[in-house]
Amino acid sequence: MARARTKHVCSECGHEALAWSGQCAGCGAWNTLLETAAESGRPRATAGGRGSGARRAARPTRLRDVEAPAERRLLTGIGEVDRVLGGGLVPGSVVLLGGAPGIGKSTITAMALGNLSGSGRRTLYVTGEESAAQVRMRAERLGEGALDVPVLAETDIGAVVATVESEAPEVCVVDSVQTMHSAELTSAPGSVAQVRQVTGALMEVGKRTGTALIIVGHVTKEGSVAGPRVLEHLVDCVLVFEGERERSYRTLRALKNRFGATSEVGVFEMRSGGLVEVEDPSARFVAEATGAPGSVVLVAMEGTRPLLVEVQALVAPTEVVPPRRVANGIDRNRLAMVIAVLSRHAGVQVGSADVFVNVAGGVRVDEPGADLAVALAIASARAGQALSDPEGRPLACFGEVGLTGELRQVGHPERRVAEARKFGLEPVIGPRTSERLGGLSAVDTLRAATRGALARGRRGGAAAEPFAEAA
Ligand code: TYD
Ligand code: MG
Repeated sequence: MARARTKHVCSECGHEALAWSGQCAGCGAWNTLLETAAESGRPRATAGGRGSGARRAARPTRLRDVEAPAERRLLTGIGEVDRVLGGGLVPGSVVLLGGAPGIGKSTITAMALGNLSGSGRRTLYVTGEESAAQVRMRAERLGEGALDVPVLAETDIGAVVATVESEAPEVCVVDSVQTMHSAELTSAPGSVAQVRQVTGALMEVGKRTGTALIIVGHVTKEGSVAGPRVLEHLVDCVLVFEGERERSYRTLRALKNRFGATSEVGVFEMRSGGLVEVEDPSARFVAEATGAPGSVVLVAMEGTRPLLVEVQALVAPTEVVPPRRVANGIDRNRLAMVIAVLSRHAGVQVGSADVFVNVAGGVRVDEPGADLAVALAIASARAGQALSDPEGRPLACFGEVGLTGELRQVGHPERRVAEARKFGLEPVIGPRTSERLGGLSAVDTLRAATRGALARGRRGGAAAEPFAEAA
C-alpha cells in the first residue's frame, strides 16, 4: 500500500478516487477530478461528528485581546507599487502578481527586491523560468542595487521551501508559480493541482518565517491569474500588470487587497533602464490627445485617482457582415451596448460600418463612467467632426449611459472635474450632480450630450468627411 500518495478529488462534489478519470463517478461531472496529495497519517475528523470523541473545545478570543503587532510595512521603493499595495508590503503576507508574458513582471519584482536589499532587508529571488545568469543580465540593466539580491534557480518546491526556511528572507519573490513543481504530485508543473500545492507550501513556510512572498503568475487565456481563480482566494493580495507588450505604458492594479483599497492603479513606462513610474499620467495622455474627429478625453477614476485618457473611435464602411466591433482598453459588451443606445436614443447610426474604439496608450479602463466618452468618440468619428474647441483643446467627458438613453451619475464627479480643469479642459460634459459643479456642463441624456458636443465641435474643431451610410 505504498502507492497511494495522491488521490483525485472532484472539485464539484468532493468525491475521492485513487486514479484519474475523465468523469467523476460521484456526480457525473466531466473533467473535475484534481490530483491532490493524500494526507499523511494525520487523523481525520470522522464524518458524522462523534468519532474521535475526546476533542478539546477551543476557546475563542475576544478580538480586542488578539495580539496584532503594530504593522510595519516593507517599502519596495517604487512609489506606484507601494501605493497600489496600500502603503508597502505587509510582513508575512502573500502577494500574487499576474500578467501576460513579457509585460515586465520579472523586471518590476527584480527592481523591488533591489531597492529592498538596498535598504537593508534580507531578500531572495527564486527563479524557475530563467537561469541565474539571465536574471543577472536583467539586473545589470536595472542598476547596482539589483545585483545585491541573492538568487536561487530552482523548480523543486521542496528545495525552495527549505531554502526560505534556512535563509528566512524578509521578502521573497517566486518567479513563476507555474514553473514550480511538487514531487508529491504526479501532474505536470503549471497544472491546477500543482499550482495550488506549490502555493500552499509557500504560504505555509512564509507564515512560519514571517516572509512576505511575491508569487509571480502568468495569466491564462481567460484572464485569471494562474489557473481558474484557485489562487486568488488563497492569497492576501492580487496584483495584475496590464498593458500591451508593444506599447510602453503599463498599469498595475490591485484586484484584491486585504491590507488596502482595491482598484488603486499605478502607471509605468517601460524604458531601457527598466520600468519608470509615470508620476502624472494625465499630463502625458492629454498632451498626446489629437483632438481630431473621433477623439475625446475621458476623465476616468482609477481607484482614488482621476486619470485623463484619450478615447479614439473609427467608423469605417465595410463589406464584412456582420460588421466588426473592436474594443481595445474597454469592455466589448459595453461597446455593443453604447452603439445600441446611440442608434436607438441619440439618432447616431453605425449599423453597417466597422467600429473600432481604442483607449490610447494601451491603458485599460474598467468603469461605467467610460460610456459617454465611447459614445461621443463614435458620434464624432461618424460625423467626421472634431469636438475640440477653437483653441484646439480636446473635449473632456465622463458618465454612464443607461439603456433608456439617460446619462447616469458615476463616482467622484468633483474630483474628475477638478482634474480636467487642471489641464484647462473646460467645461466637462457629464451627468447632472446633486450639487452644482463649476466647470461641469451637466446633461441628462445621451442625445443632449452628442448634440452639445457636435455643436461645440462645429464652432471650433476641424471637420473631415462624414461617414456616409452605403445606400
Ligand atoms: P520581463 O520582466 O522579463 O517580463 P515578464 O517577466 O513579465 O515576462 O520583461 C519584459 C520586457 O521588457 C522584455 O521584453 C524586455 C523589456 N525590458 C526593457 O524594455 N527594459 C528593461 O530595462 C528591461 C529589464 C526589460
Ligand atoms: Mg519573467
